[in-house]
This record gives sequence, structure tokens and C-alpha cells, in this order.
Amino acid sequence: MAVPKTGTELVLPEGFLMGAATSAHQVEGNNVASDWWALENAPETFVEVPSGDAADSYHRWPQDMDLLRELGFNAYRFSIEWARVEPEPGRVSRAALAHYRAMVEGALARGLTPVVTLHHFSSPRWFSERGGWRAPDAAELFAGYTSTVLEILGGATRIATLNEPNMVALMYALRRYAAEHGWSALAQSRAEGGAAFSPALISPDEVVTRTLIEAHQRSRDVLRGAGGGFEVGWTVANQVYHAEPGAEEVAAAYARPREEVFLEAARGDDWIGVQAYTRHRVGPDGPLPVPDGAPTTLTGWEVYPEALGEAVAHTVEVTGADVPIVVTENGIATGDDGARIAYTHRALASLAEQMRRGADVRGYFHWSALDNYEWGTFRPTFGLIGVDPVTFARTPKPSARWLGALAAAGRIPDAAGADRPVPSAAR
Ligand code: BGC
Repeated sequence: MAVPKTGTELVLPEGFLMGAATSAHQVEGNNVASDWWALENAPETFVEVPSGDAADSYHRWPQDMDLLRELGFNAYRFSIEWARVEPEPGRVSRAALAHYRAMVEGALARGLTPVVTLHHFSSPRWFSERGGWRAPDAAELFAGYTSTVLEILGGATRIATLNEPNMVALMYALRRYAAEHGWSALAQSRAEGGAAFSPALISPDEVVTRTLIEAHQRSRDVLRGAGGGFEVGWTVANQVYHAEPGAEEVAAAYARPREEVFLEAARGDDWIGVQAYTRHRVGPDGPLPVPDGAPTTLTGWEVYPEALGEAVAHTVEVTGADVPIVVTENGIATGDDGARIAYTHRALASLAEQMRRGADVRGYFHWSALDNYEWGTFRPTFGLIGVDPVTFARTPKPSARWLGALAAAGRIPDAAGADRPVPSAAR
């Protein structure tokens, strides 16, 4: 695809999606039939605080969509909550289906292209209690859920089946660790920034990996078979492994179960979601900590915006150039909105560079539209739009206006304008 270039900005191709993303559990609030709610409220848990009302988007989604449109975006990525649609096995909530149908229609009516994720980390509590993604019929149950939600997806062409399956497989390994050592060991390890919690050091659960790939394929078959013109993909967490000299083989062996198998599984898909935030360095003995003195974010990740371009290049290499890419998540946890703009500027420039080299990128979704529940804590703020925790009032940040203006203009910065340093964002 030939992409024209003007000055220090890249003109986006016709139909390019520029939006922001959320996930149901992180913004809706009171997702009481989900396994995450159960985990948050269990007597012994590593979870610091429960999600509670989150950003109350279950009720305030029209306002959220209005804001995104007013800011200049043309797309919104959100997820449907299986636990609400099927709170007990086989019991479908018509009200929940109507709710999500209204969201799909609400997005379309506002000129926001909906990109709908069917599963974003949380599952119904009953599903997890009977073995979750380790149960022999898990893929079948997910295909059944896909059939159930078909009726509300009309008009939403781009569907993501599962979010970050590679992280889900890691979460199961974490649970196993917790079962052996106790949640408090896990909580302590997390508080100390310790290895046990780091996705870098735990191997994904292999049964879960296989089941998720099967679940994705079965769900894709259901969607494709429905004749609604759905374009189906899944979204993979790109770790952007950097091998130290001499550690190339260690890094490759390391990346294989954590990323490559999930990218390879997307080869027959209609598109693939790239999600990138930072890089992970790997030495001869395995993963390395963030280098001393490197700027970090509120999640403790190294500020490394070029991860986005590198993730896109790597995805093209593994998945194949014929699978179009949508950047379904990219962003930074920071209380310093200037750092958010600087980070995103450089991330977009690295994306523009890959597009100029021929990567078929169809959209960019910033994580996140709103400050939200970051899986156990509200402290790392990823949002373009701030949310008051008591009144739930929404306040767009300068970064929202900056990115929205780019979206409205159909341009993103290219490499020439990407030399702005990103200050430490851990505040
Ligand atoms: C997930 C989001 C999460 C974000 C920041 C991604 O792994 O899909 O749910 O909030 O990263 O940690």
C-alpha cells in the first residue's frame, strides 16, 4: 500500500481507524458474576483493591462515546462481558445482550467504528470454577458464547475473539504459583517488584495455550459462518524482546511460548491486533531488569515508545505481510500528561516508519480512553480522559485533544518529529 508523506507527518490511508480502547471489566463496574470480581473479593488475594464501580461506564458509555467523537476519533474498541451475557451456564441475559447491542448501535450512530472484543481477560465465575481454560470443553463453551452474541454484533465488522491470549496463559501459570506458594507470597513478590509476578519469569500454561488457540479458531469459524461480513482476529501482547549480544538464542527460546505461537496462530485470520507498551531485555541467563536510571512508568515499565514500531515489524515477520494489522493497544501509565504526549508522539512516529516501509496497518487504538481499573489497582493512569473516582465526572486531558486532533486531520507524526525525549513518567 503506497502511503503518501507530507512534511513531518504521515497522511493516513483512507478508512484508517484512529480511536481509543477500553475493556468491560476495567471500566464498567460491578461485574459481579465474573471470576475477576470473585478474585478481587476473596479473603486471601494478591489484588490490592477491588474494581467496585470502576469508571461506571456500564451506565455512562453514551457520554464516553460522545467525548471520543467530539475529540476527533473515528473508532472505539470495547469489549463484551461474557459474565453478564451468560451469568450462569446456559442462562442468557436478554438485558445484557440489549445493553451491548445499544453500544454497537450507539457507536455506529456517532460515526465511531466499533471494534468489539469478545473476551478481555475476565470470564464468568462459573466458567473458571469448572476449570476455566483448562477444562476440556472450554473452547466449545467459548464458541457457544460467540454464537449467543452474534445477534448483537451486526454492523460491527471488526471483531477480536480473545485479548492477549499469551497473557491469559501466563495468568494461569501465576495462579498455579499462588496455589503452591499462597497468594500472600505472590502479593509480597509483586510489592517488591519481584520475579514471581513478572510475566517475564513465569512460563505460560501449555494446556491453556492450546485451548485458547482452539477457542479462537472455533469462535472465528462461528463468526465467519454467520455471513455478517465479520473480519476476525485476536490481539497479542507484543513483548518486544531485546537480546543482549550473545543471548539471541536464549531470547528466541524465551519468546516462542510467550509470543510466537500466538502470532503464528493468526496466520489464517482476517487481521491481527498488535499491543505494545515497552521492551523486555533478555541476557544469557534470561530476562533482565529495567536498566538503572532508565525512565519508567507508573507500572514500572521502561519508557520505550519505539516498542510499537518494533512490535509491528516483528508481527509482520511472524504472521506474514498478508495479515493486516490493527494496533489495538498502545499507551503509557503516567500522571504526567506531557509525558503521555511525548511517548505517544514517538510511538506513532515508529508506527509511521513501518507503514512507510509497507506494513499494512489499518488502525491505531490508544490504551486507554479512560483512566480505569488496572487489574488490581487504580493507581497507574493510562487514560486520555480522567475519571473522578467519586462523581465519575470525565475530564479530557491535553493528550486527548492532541491525539483527537491528529485523528481528525488523518495524520500522525513521522520519524522526523520524533526526537522529543520522554521524561520519567512514574508520577
Ligand atoms: C491489557 C489491558 C491492560 C494494559 C495495561 C494490556 O495487557 O490488555 O487490559 O490494562 O495492557 O497494562
